Parts: sequence; C-alpha cells; structure tokens
Amino acid sequence: MYLTKEQLETYKSQGFILLEKCFSSAEVEIMKAELSVLSAEKSPKKILEKDGKTVRSLHGSHTNNDVFNCLTRHPFIVEPAMQIVGTQVYVYQFKINIKAAFSGDIWKWHQDYIYWRKEDGMPKPQVVNAMCLLDDMNEFNGPLFVIPGSHKEEMIDVMAHSSIVGTAATTTSNIYGDTPTWISSFSANLKYSLNQNLITDLVSNYGITSIKGAAGSVLFFDSNIVHASTNNISPFGRSTAIITYNSIENIPLSVINPRPDFLVSQNYQAVTPLVSDALSQFSRAIPVLY
Ligand code: SIN
Ligand code: MN
Repeated sequence: MYLTKEQLETYKSQGFILLEKCFSSAEVEIMKAELSVLSAEKSPKKILEKDGKTVRSLHGSHTNNDVFNCLTRHPFIVEPAMQIVGTQVYVYQFKINIKAAFSGDIWKWHQDYIYWRKEDGMPKPQVVNAMCLLDDMNEFNGPLFVIPGSHKEEMIDVMAHSSIVGTAATTTSNIYGDTPTWISSFSANLKYSLNQNLITDLVSNYGITSIKGAAGSVLFFDSNIVHASTNNISPFGRSTAIITYNSIENIPLSVINPRPDFLVSQNYQAVTPLVSDALSQFSRAIPVLY
C-alpha cells in the first residue's frame, strides 16, 4: 500500500501522517494477544515504569516473536516507509510502548534523531518511525503530542542530562539503579529532552496537536519532529508498536559504547514486504465442538 502524492506531501510538510485502520480488529487482536506473553518474560528487553512493576516498553520483539516479525514486514507499513525514506529499508529499532491504564508514565518532549546520531552514529535522518496503534488512542489515555512542522528545525543540539538529579530522577535511579546507561533513553526521565522555553517557542511558531485514532491505524512520523506524551490516568490502555526503518544507505558508523542489538539492530538486511493478509496466518483455530 503506497502513499498518494498528496499524502507524501502532507508527511513532508507536517512531519507526520496518520493512516486510519490499516489493520482490522482481528489483526489487532492477534498482535495484542502476544503482549501478555512478552510482558511476562523476564528479560533485559523489558523496561518497567518507575513503580518497578508496570511494564513500560518491550524492545526487539520482532526478533523473538513471529507476529511482530510479520508486522515489521507488512506491506502496509514497509511500502510507505520505503517511499518516505526513498530507498530500501531495514528495521533499526522495534519497541512496544504499553502505556498501561492508570499507570503509564510520560514521554518528555524530545526528538528521536539526536539519540540515533549521538548514541549510535547514524549519519543522517534518512529514517522513519511507524507507530501502529494496538489500542484506540484518545484524549484520555495519553495520546502522542506533536508540534507539526517542527522537523524543519532539524536536530536541536541539546546537552545530554544526567538521570540522577531531582526528585523524580532519584526515584528513577533507585528503580533503575543497577541497569546500564542506555536506560536513560527509555525511562520517563529522557536523556535529550527539550526544555520548557524551547517548547513554548516552538508551539507558538508551529502550534500543537495530539494524535488520536482507532486501534489498527498507523502513524508515520519524522525522526526530527518534536513529540511527547502525558501519563495515562484513564482506565484505557494505550499500547503501540513503534518500528523505526532506516535507509540501507544510512548504516550507523561505529561508536565507542554501542547499545545492545535489541535496541539498535545490526541486521542491515533490507525488508521485503509480505502479502497484505500476512497477519491472518496467526489467527487462532476455531475450536471444534462435538
Ligand atoms: C516515543 O517517543 O518513542 C514514544 C512516545 C509515546 O509512546 O508516547
Ligand atoms: Mn520518540
């Protein structure tokens, strides 16, 4: 499924585009059924919220889960990704953000590319995020906030800040005390977050919007768009699978402390799109009643 010329222009000018209902309710259910299994696993690929028990994110599940592997190769996602990036693509990063009902925490204002540039040595922002909504995302459950057009500012070169300052950070450092430094890119206390003055200026220049859509919709967004989300105090979960596709011509340079493979894939193999009903092979067999 390719984007129309108008859709591609919309993506380029506002830095994002939401494609409604790419996946049916049955396909979404197939994906959601995997979340409880993956969340129960004891694994370094699982990040918890500050409460130390709620699952915040699951990383790299496309390498150990057939359903999510299939999602990363689904034509409704890969074809627009190739169009946007302008070349063949590989899966650079895969994560599921759970944003649980009543306890899912915030994502501070940030751009993504600065992490990939500074932590991973990605040469240029020839890369795109595809966020597949696994629940409805509405005004109540901490939808994604974006500043439309802010990708035109390109990478805003902010200083990394330590996660061991302030009250919330103290809690964070207690919870994540023994974990490696890359955690600060995935906890609620983000390493390259943008300050309030900057956000005030950007919002007054570009405005602000929240992304709302039904489960099964897919949001494509630019790696330099400024985005954030609030915590989820509603009774509605807000899980999403976010696949980052990088150009096969934009392989990261080597860095001194590379992040683990489940965060930044070193499998540079171009993705070949599957058939459009690929997810239906995972539907559970209807039990035979005697
Ligand atoms: C992200 O910035 O990668 C995720 C934001 C969100 O899930 O709200
Ligand atoms: Mn982000």
